[in-house]
Parts: sequence; C-alpha cells; structure tokens
Amino acid sequence: MKKLFLLSAVAATMAFFGCKGSDSGTASDQGVTVTIHADQGTQKIHKEIYGQFAEHLGSCIYGGLWVGENSQIPNINGYRKDVFEALKALKVPVLRWPGGCFADEYHWMDGIGPKENRPKMQNNNWGGTIEDNSFGTHEFLNLCEMLECEPYISGNVGSGTVEELAKWVEYMTSDGDTPMAKLRRQNGRDKAWKVKYLGVGNESWGCGGNMRPDYYADLYRRYSVYCRNYDGNNLYKIASGATDYDYNWTKVLMENIGNLMHGVSLHYYTVTGWDGSKGSSTEFNENDYYWTMGKCLEIEEVIEKHKAIMDETDPDKNIGLLVDEWGTWWDEEPGTIKGHLYQQNALRDAFVASLSLDVFHRHTDRIRMCNIAQVVNVLQSMILTDQEGTGHMVLTPTYHVFQMYTPFQEATYLPLDITCNEMKVRRNWKEEVDAANAETYRTLPLLSASAAKTQDGDIVVALTNVSLDEEQDVTVNLEGAAVQTVSGRILTSANVADYNDFENPDRVAPADFTGAQIEQGVLSVKVPAKSLVVLTLK
Ligand code: AHR
Repeated sequence: MKKLFLLSAVAATMAFFGCKGSDSGTASDQGVTVTIHADQGTQKIHKEIYGQFAEHLGSCIYGGLWVGENSQIPNINGYRKDVFEALKALKVPVLRWPGGCFADEYHWMDGIGPKENRPKMQNNNWGGTIEDNSFGTHEFLNLCEMLECEPYISGNVGSGTVEELAKWVEYMTSDGDTPMAKLRRQNGRDKAWKVKYLGVGNESWGCGGNMRPDYYADLYRRYSVYCRNYDGNNLYKIASGATDYDYNWTKVLMENIGNLMHGVSLHYYTVTGWDGSKGSSTEFNENDYYWTMGKCLEIEEVIEKHKAIMDETDPDKNIGLLVDEWGTWWDEEPGTIKGHLYQQNALRDAFVASLSLDVFHRHTDRIRMCNIAQVVNVLQSMILTDQEGTGHMVLTPTYHVFQMYTPFQEATYLPLDITCNEMKVRRNWKEEVDAANAETYRTLPLLSASAAKTQDGDIVVALTNVSLDEEQDVTVNLEGAAVQTVSGRILTSANVADYNDFENPDRVAPADFTGAQIEQGVLSVKVPAKSLVVLTLK
C-alpha cells in the first residue's frame, strides 16, 4: 500500500502530543480520502489470518472451552455450548493448541485414554495450577472437527523428545497398521484426523528451552525429519520464530533451516513491557490510549523488517510468516488468580484488533496465518466466561471486530491510499519525554482502512477512526469498480474504556450504520470518533 498521509495539526488536547504542520495543505483542507484500487487486487487474504489460540492457561480450556460432560453448564459432549456456538458463528479457520509456553512441558500421552487414568501435572508456567489432562488430543481434535477449523498443534521441543513428537504425529494422522494408529483406535477413534499445521516448539529462545538460534535451527532440522506425512496428510511445519524486534533470530533460521520449514512464526504483543505493571485493561487515560494505538501499529514496521530478512534468502516467498501470538497484554483483573492472565477487553482492544488485521491484510504476500492470544478468558479474548462458574458468558468488543471482519476471509485484498490526519504519540510508557526528541515519538495516522473484494463480488471496506474526539468525513474513491448500494455496521461506545461484563453484556456491540452514502460512484462516510465501521458495497 502506498501511504499518502498528509500531515496536519491535530487538535491535541494534551500538551503531551506534538503536531506536525503541513505547508501544502492539511488533510482537513483536502478532506480525508481513501482511494481504493478495486482493479488492482491480486492477493488473497488467507482466512487463517483470523486464527485463534487455545492454551492450557487459566480458564481458557477448563471453564472456557471445556466444562466436561457432567457439568451443570449446558454443554455438547463436554464443550461449553454457548462458547462453542459463539465460535462457530465466528468462522474460526484455525485453532492453535496446547500452548504457548505450556506446549513445551506438555506430554501428549498423559492426555489420552480413560480420563480417570490420566496423570495430573503441575502447570509450571501458569500459576502452578494442577492440570488433570482431561482435555487432551481427542478432545481438541474433535472440537476442531465440530468447528470445521484446521488444528494447529504446537509440539514439545523444549522438554520433549524427537520420538515423542514423531509418535504424536503418527497417533493423530496415521490410518495404517501402525502402533500409534492402533493405540488411537483403542482409545475410541478409528479414522485418523487431518492435521495440517505443526509447530516445532514455541518461543524456543525463552520458555521453550532458552536456546540460541543456531542450536534451535539444528534441533528443528532434526525434529522435523521424523514428523512424517502419513496417508495423505501433509504437514505444514512451522519453526519457532522470533519475538518482536529479534531480527537475528529470523535471519539465522532462514539461513540454517530455509526450505525445510514451511513457515516461521513471529510473536508481537501490544504490551508496555515485561517488568512491573502492564497497565489496567479498563482504567486508562488518553495518553495511555494513544500509546496503545502507536505500539499496536508498530507491528507493521516489525513485520516489514522480518519480511525483508526473509526476502534475502526466499525472494519467491515460499516460506510463510505466521504471527501466531499477538494482541494486548494488560494486568490481570484484580481478584483473579495470579498467572492466569484473565483481563477485560475494552473498545480500545477492539481497535488494536482492527488496526492489526488491517496491517496483516497489507502483508498477505508473506503472512499466511495469525493467531490472536487467546480465544477465551486469557489476554485479548473473544469471549469471557464467569470465573465463579455460574455459567455466564460475554462476547468482547474484540469478538465483534472479528465477526464484522469475517467477509475479509479469503477475499481479494484491494490496495488503497489514505490521506488523513496523523498525530505524534509518545513511545515510552508512562514516561515524560523530551518533546524535541522525535525519536521518542511514534506517528499515528488517525484513520486505518482495509478493502477487499469478496468471493460474492461485493467490496468490503473497514474504516477505524482512532481519534477520541474528531469525527472523520471520509471520501472513498473507488477506482475500477462501479457500486450502487452501501450498507454497514458500526462498533463504538460512549467511552473508549467501555467493555462488556456479565451485568451489561451488550454495552459495546455492533449496530446498523447509516452514515454512508454513494453519489455518482463516490462514497462518503462520516466515521464518528472512536469507532469502527465495516461497509458492504454492491
Ligand atoms: O500467551 C501467553 C504466553 O505468551 C504464551 O504462552 C507464550 O508463548 C508467550 O510468551
């Protein structure tokens, strides 16, 4: 995408924010415009960009996805019915499991066979909780079948063996007269499952083994040999990739693993840092809010740098980049269990979702999958369930973004140019910085956009106005397409810190949008402050 951000003074209500002036006219002089090149779409937006992540962490699995067959909470064979139905409506394309950090301490054989015989373990990464292994391979893969999504298995390299991982692949995917297929049949599953995505370790530079990149690259080469393709199942093998700004990790893996991997992962959280408080999910001021938008958008620069490294040895882009953990990470909610990462989810989080998805769309040439962390009750969840087990559930503002964006799955990305106001936001969290030092600021465009042509031939346009107080009057020029009608939905709320809870489950919910009109082929949209609008053009 060409960016044509015309710089202008933004009505900065806080002395904290600097403004860039423009001598050639401002966006407000010329209006805010989005020019969509409807005749230039070539890339498909892989539906896997809308992937989810389920980890044995806090109440993501137990109490979130799974309550067991004997629960008072309505369930389908042990899966929470309300959660299952909400996820089904979301068209989840792929679900990653069992971790995260948990994956490198998980021994899959503890999670098969009669439940009463399954050994317990301590979940050392996440609060020391006792894991009873009642949700294991069968429970996960059957859930994926019910959701009609691809499973993404994250294998244990940190504390597991080559043999253990090789046997897991055989257990899940072999249909022959093999020892692991026989064991699976004894456990009640005759036919092999199809498992496409296999992660060879997770965060191997950290909780997955504290390795150096060369050492991990060699381990990857070794482990991946024995993860076989059985009976028509074709694995897409994913190397445990870098965190954030660790470009050297990607470089070493590209040079030393190369085409032996199908994809390499990247983790990027919108987080204030790893030491001390990460900030509250719901109590924040304007500075904190704009910091969050800036940090979120920095993922684009990070992706571009990892992509550039990948291009050096893989110019044809055969190897995928998979952002298999992303999202906001705030302090745990007061009163919840330490280490369980249960956080609320405000309208602010919804914008982190829409801005990130817009970025991912722009990089579909390399990005093959993304998995927001995590699907239920952990970090930037789609769904929160009541921690007391009363059976209540709420859909978060982030869920609504994913739901509103479903038309983008498998649609053709349409390049676009944006002319809009932008503001400078501080780079450091909670620190007063020297306004003269530009390095301490990030530049934040106040409008984010995506456009795509759906498989039905409609054009879908998403516009997020992150300004807290300015409505944006957007002119959308459609080049190479004639449209007659527009309909849309809006996600907004009185306050950007608003969230849904069990008393007010619909405080932040999508509504019909009437602020768009088409005249002589030109679309005009009044996007209210702090809102996301998704339009369908026919
Ligand atoms: O999502 C929580 C944790 O963050 C994951 O387990 C780990 O991979 C990452 O550090």
